[in-house]
Amino acid sequence: MKTLSNHLLLLVQTVLFLFVALAAGCKHPEHSTTSPADTITTTAAPTTTDAVPTTTAVPEPTTPSSDHRLIAYIADWALPEKIAWDKLDQVIYSFAVPNENGELGEFNGDQLKSIVEEGHDNDKSVSLSIGGWTGSLYFSSLVGSESSRTKFVKSITNAVEEYDLDAINIDWEYPNSANGVACNQNDPADTANYLTFVQQLRESLPEGTLINAAVATAPFNDENQQPSASLDPEWKNALDGFYIMGYDVNGNWNEKVGPNAPLYFKDQSDGIDSVSADSAVKAWIDAGIPADQLYLGVPFYGRIAQVKTGATSSSGMYQPLDGKQIKGDKYDEKAADPCPNAVSTFSGMYQWRSIESQGIPTNSSGWETSWDEASQTPYAYNGNRVLSFDDPHSLQAKVKYAKANGLGGVMLWSLEMDDVDNTLLNALQGIRND
Ligand SMILES: *[C@@H]1O[C@H](CO)[C@@H](O)[C@H](O)[C@H]1NC(C)=O
Repeated sequence: MKTLSNHLLLLVQTVLFLFVALAAGCKHPEHSTTSPADTITTTAAPTTTDAVPTTTAVPEPTTPSSDHRLIAYIADWALPEKIAWDKLDQVIYSFAVPNENGELGEFNGDQLKSIVEEGHDNDKSVSLSIGGWTGSLYFSSLVGSESSRTKFVKSITNAVEEYDLDAINIDWEYPNSANGVACNQNDPADTANYLTFVQQLRESLPEGTLINAAVATAPFNDENQQPSASLDPEWKNALDGFYIMGYDVNGNWNEKVGPNAPLYFKDQSDGIDSVSADSAVKAWIDAGIPADQLYLGVPFYGRIAQVKTGATSSSGMYQPLDGKQIKGDKYDEKAADPCPNAVSTFSGMYQWRSIESQGIPTNSSGWETSWDEASQTPYAYNGNRVLSFDDPHSLQAKVKYAKANGLGGVMLWSLEMDDVDNTLLNALQGIRND
């Protein structure tokens, strides 16, 4: 029960906070008021790629940026039975898919309303994600002209008002890129238009609404479909947070088994992607985004692949694949991209709740689990199947990395994939304690 003095204290804190935020000229009070220049020079990324940094000597955030440290996606097609609100700072409901007229659809409005209500009852913020892997077909033209931008901004603003949202998450996979769905629109000016769109969205949304984006492991592409070496400096003012999708780095599309979500990579990169959470964070910082606006996205699932000859603890995980795209766990179903003549395939995704219930981490059900030093993630093998995944140990290494490098926080995909004891969510709690 709240007493009068609690109320008074809260009032004093609120007034103080508003004063500090105003004095600092802070447009988005949820973010640190540290100047970008300070951040860049004080947050040195580790120089070695083979060890988890042990230093935590990073200046403590002094502003309420720590209010949004742990962020979880939920998916409308697989909502968790129960959301452990007390272990989270923000939930992102996904996805609202824009059609070619910029209207948002393919989500359940009543469901979203009840989640926002539940979140607000728990004093947590709720965001709506727009786009997604299969929902990015029309972004390019939607941000490409003044008139379509205006329509798109209007429908997002309407959604924020209708559903009482605290934040908007843009998940465009990806601007001017050949890496997304084959029939996505693309344009050399995508990244520039994206920025103009976000700026216009900021003007239109109610004061205080956060805008963040799910982003690839490399900065937004330039006009030549290459990752930008340096981004327009306005990007850091336009978005509150950049949620780096540090997963799906390797999978059954590669020549060799590679880690789904490597924290680091070493030289065995032939046949896998030379990308890691660490390389992604460095690339975004080099492109001009302050570390405290970067969030490291971590998976609550692994990926399975079939190899030519069985892997063992001594062979390591980096074995040649046989080219078959085998089924992951019981939740994995064949799906096709929303393009003409697209072929249905298994993703090979294997959710943590399946990994845990089959006892894979404890060498049950025919599986043996080893640790991949290079990526700081576990892998399991069973005959000619190899599974790369994350467990509490690898997630804690990622939390440690995020804290040591002064990142804004950690994002996860997605909440329902955890086990009933919230084992993985519990492993991430360290990001919330400064
Ligand atoms: C599982 O097997 C691997 C490889 O033999 C071994 O290194 C590991 O310690 C075992 N794990 C458990 C929990 O027994």
